[in-house]
Amino acid sequence: MYDYECHEHDVVVIGAGGAGLRAAIEASSMGVSVALVCKSMLGKAHTVMAEGGAAAALSNKDSRDSWKTHFRDTMKGGKYLSDWRMARIHAQEAPDRIRELETWGAVFDRTREGQINQRNFGGHTYPRLAHIGDATGLEIIRTLQEKGVHMGMDVFMEFTVCRLFTSDGRISGCLAYDRQRGRAHVFKAKTIVLATGGITRCWSVCSGSWEYTGDGHALAYWTGAEMGDMEFVQFHPTGMIWPPSVRGILVTEGVRGEGGMLRNSEGDRFMFDYVPEMFRKEFADTEEEALAWVEEVISDKQATKRRPPELLTRDVVAKAINSEKAAGRASEHGGAYLDISWRPADQVRKKLPGMYHQFKELAGVDITKQAMEVGPTAHYVMGGVKVDPDSQESTVPGLFAAGESATGLHGANRLGGNSLSDLVTFGRRAGLYASKAASAMDAWQEIGEDEIQDGIDYMMAPLNREGGENPAAIVHDLREMMQEKVGIIRTREHLVEALDDLEALRVRSKSCSPGGGVIYNPGWHQALELEAMIDVSKMCALAALEREESRGGHTRDDFPTPNYDYWGKVNSVIMQDSDGNMKIEHRSYPPIPDELKELLDSDDLDGDS
Ligand code: FUM
Repeated sequence: MYDYECHEHDVVVIGAGGAGLRAAIEASSMGVSVALVCKSMLGKAHTVMAEGGAAAALSNKDSRDSWKTHFRDTMKGGKYLSDWRMARIHAQEAPDRIRELETWGAVFDRTREGQINQRNFGGHTYPRLAHIGDATGLEIIRTLQEKGVHMGMDVFMEFTVCRLFTSDGRISGCLAYDRQRGRAHVFKAKTIVLATGGITRCWSVCSGSWEYTGDGHALAYWTGAEMGDMEFVQFHPTGMIWPPSVRGILVTEGVRGEGGMLRNSEGDRFMFDYVPEMFRKEFADTEEEALAWVEEVISDKQATKRRPPELLTRDVVAKAINSEKAAGRASEHGGAYLDISWRPADQVRKKLPGMYHQFKELAGVDITKQAMEVGPTAHYVMGGVKVDPDSQESTVPGLFAAGESATGLHGANRLGGNSLSDLVTFGRRAGLYASKAASAMDAWQEIGEDEIQDGIDYMMAPLNREGGENPAAIVHDLREMMQEKVGIIRTREHLVEALDDLEALRVRSKSCSPGGGVIYNPGWHQALELEAMIDVSKMCALAALEREESRGGHTRDDFPTPNYDYWGKVNSVIMQDSDGNMKIEHRSYPPIPDELKELLDSDDLDGDS
């Protein structure tokens, strides 16, 4: 029998990025007891990697903006696979969530009139991103953390959750261990909110830090929840590519929002050659027009010109950089040049202070004088736990999910800036509905002792093995394999191989042995994370193999165009069958009501344009 510590809370929130903190604040404000359990130190979350801003139709910079335009941009950017109900809620509620952050102390940049300033980002018709220089996510986390710690919640830092419990099909708690001392903890909970972020550590070039191993996605799947859209992974077009030690670190889209231009090794501003038909009307086709737009924006005028093609959606820009490389026109180290040095140096330093220091310190490049070298980096997964659009409850009663661990809002491709507003909009909703559901229950459900012991057995298994491989070697091989075979451009052949490779990695993982004991043992933590990484990678590869078309964050070299008749109308749904095998179905959201359909570019829906 293993020993463990037991805790009881009405609501347990797993993950303390923007969605988790916002959910925990809301639940605490409803008077229920809340535990906030996070894998890292409080305040360290991938949310800080949304640097350039939070999208909300505040209409401070351009009075023509409205929730309707934000709704339309989100649906169009998601290539019409978003859950329109979530896209509507998000567009309508995001402005209030941003203003609320301001009342909680977030120090947004200001317009000349003293309102929250907004900048341009890819796929947004108007300047829409409320920002704090290029450190918006960081400031939002700081604000939520300060608000949260005064709400009376219990915070458990450096805890990894490795199993969720259900009783009679309803969530009843979770098992975690404390990463420092290795002690087991059981959290009894009436409801749980998953806010564990994403999965991008499954690729070797990514913007995420070590926490991003898909734990929440896997926990939900293992507990019987339905998962959606797992083939759609966002490769942010601009990560650092040189020197190798910093490869993948994010270069904010804010650089392009402030007028940054992309060029290839021949000095061509290549994005003009990659404007998709569906965006043709909105984007400039000459350098002169693009520059005129930037000048209007810099001088605070409402833009009358069409936007520069660097502000196309991320899927389009990332693939364009990839194509330039394939055509032999890459920058010195295999990417593209991103140049903002044409703007006055003091403006670059003021608007993009983080980028200025990042390049100066990590690459020895002064971005006020020289171009940056950039290339795609795995940044975000649009897929995740399928949730009710209003409450964020998953298909497992009592289990809620918000932020990157949930799916629905972003469809096949997320617009930059929609993640920060997603976190606060749906984090609040998840906390609200999780606390309501918890309040409706009289008592905690029982968790069987055998289940707890079984969970701890699973947790301890890697430490009880000897002579196997180090888990780090297997994680390394998985990441390289996913980069090569389930990356930006996919083929049937590679995806089939990837699925086989994942089963081989699974066999290796079952006998890996990190050695050492439970205290401060990163090898042990990695052996457990590996289980999640293999299953989330498999979800991605399987859904990518099935989707025989190219759309948003999923490109098939063997099916290079979108298929409007079938794939444009269905989302992939993954679940466990009764034998515990991964199975996949295709489903559609309810039809878009006419009053919302009118807001969309109807030609795009059936590919007529
Ligand atoms: O480029 C960026 O600043 C990232 C923003 C986002 O992912 O929303």
